[in-house]
Amino acid sequence: MDKTTSLTIAVPKGRLQKAVINLLEKAGVDCSELRDPSRRLIIPVPGTEWRFLLAKPADVPTYVEYGAADLGVVGKDILLESRKDVAELLDLGFGSCRLIVAVLESSGIEDIRDLDFNSRVATKFPKITTDFFTRQGIQAEVVHLNGSVELGPIVGLADAIVDITETGTTLVENGLVPIADIARVTSRLIANRVSYKVKNHTIAGLVRRLREVLEEGLD
Ligand code: PRP
Repeated sequence: MDKTTSLTIAVPKGRLQKAVINLLEKAGVDCSELRDPSRRLIIPVPGTEWRFLLAKPADVPTYVEYGAADLGVVGKDILLESRKDVAELLDLGFGSCRLIVAVLESSGIEDIRDLDFNSRVATKFPKITTDFFTRQGIQAEVVHLNGSVELGPIVGLADAIVDITETGTTLVENGLVPIADIARVTSRLIANRVSYKVKNHTIAGLVRRLREVLEEGLD
């Protein structure tokens, strides 16, 4: 196998998976096997030395930092939280959402400065949350949850949450309202720093094709 033309791409399982396949196919990458992976986690790109790894979204930066994958697709939220040393190559535009602070509407709180001293904030993003509240000069206790974060304020575990919101439905259906924006989130293409140098020709070629597809518009 030619080490400079082979490529391993970490694809996040779940909500971004379809959009990633759509983008790669438009860029001329054969994703036929990836469309129907069954329970396989390593999926070849037919007729090439390329392959996909199907990974949990939160693990994509880890595979890429350690070089187990040369490239990966990941949401900016996960990338910020992971603090992994990877190269961010492209904003892919899809998977767009906002990272926000939200509270129960019934709390009447409209500004993060109105939160009580040392309020508890539940989140899947403890590092981003700690940084944000520290930068704002607000003392908060960060409670790490792995999902369904909106439950936190409802059951009295937390006074606020930091989470992503896409359509806003989950917030509304759980009686929550956003009171601050932390970041706009989209999917990013990331690369292992060594791979980016050693396989530059291969990676730059793919990035060029992806950029063209994105400029033309995905739909
Ligand atoms: C995400 C996020 C919100 C929801 C927002 O959760 O954490 O809960 O989606 O989407 P909406 O604004 O379109 O309603 P996800 O579905 O990934 O599940 P999780 O809460 O278990 O992490």
